[in-house]
Amino acid sequence: MFGTHYRIERKSVALAVAIMVVASIGGLIEIAPLFTIDETVESDPDMRVYTPLELAGRNIYMREGCYACHSQMVRTLQDEVERYGPYSLAVESRYDHPMLWGSKRTGPDLARVGGKYSDQWHTAHLNNPRDVVPQSIMPRYHWLSETGLQTKHLGDDLRALKAVGVPYTDDMIANAPSDALAQASPDSDTDELVARYGDATQVRLFDGDQRTVSEMDALVAYLQVLGKLSNAAQPAPKE
Ligand code: HEC
Repeated sequence: MFGTHYRIERKSVALAVAIMVVASIGGLIEIAPLFTIDETVESDPDMRVYTPLELAGRNIYMREGCYACHSQMVRTLQDEVERYGPYSLAVESRYDHPMLWGSKRTGPDLARVGGKYSDQWHTAHLNNPRDVVPQSIMPRYHWLSETGLQTKHLGDDLRALKAVGVPYTDDMIANAPSDALAQASPDSDTDELVARYGDATQVRLFDGDQRTVSEMDALVAYLQVLGKLSNAAQPAPKE
């Protein structure tokens, strides 16, 4: 078996060709599936985009490193589906730049956590996880409730996402800071916000404190929408 190998090794051109053949097999196996990406990724024309408040929450999620302990992708394994719900589809992270699938799970997967708990639960949990889950080892994020949300860069954030294909309109970009504040202020005029982002937009006092719109409002708004922007993975309703 090594005879052929020794012979090729002595001929540099033959060796180079053989190396290229072997390396390209590995390359093809990785690259070829991408040729069918358009057919592989499901379509969901009704998928909603993150509102500016939810997007601000997503940025806080990244800043605080929540992804170091939490994944956002339900795998196609039975125990995962039984625990978390329908497995994640590619289309569901279509507007996620960067995606936060993750592979490290110190805590549970969060891809479908939206609607699982109340806003009060999330606020209490983030302020001090041990108040609601006594055995939790998750760190506290108590400063989020006291930190006012910075909104002035949100228009730029939307514009950057638009550049990579998220369908934000000029109207959404221009009104991003005021839309973010309106979503966490139910007493304000929210008609325009809902007209821009759809009837499913959740307008609430997410952190239960009406004095300011805080980073807690944004993070809870984001957590409550995880798994809710697209219905593509939900089983079709029974006739
Ligand atoms: C050091 C690891 C760690 C970090 C960092 C972390 N968590 Fe957790 N998280 C956990 C663990 C462990 C649990 C399970 C116990 C509990 O519910 O507190 C958990 C639970 C949760 C739950 C409840 C999930 C469910 O389905 O019950 C949410 C929501 C959550 N974390 C959000 C966050 C957010 C948001 C951040 C960032 C601000 C974060 N976590 C950062 C470890 C972590």
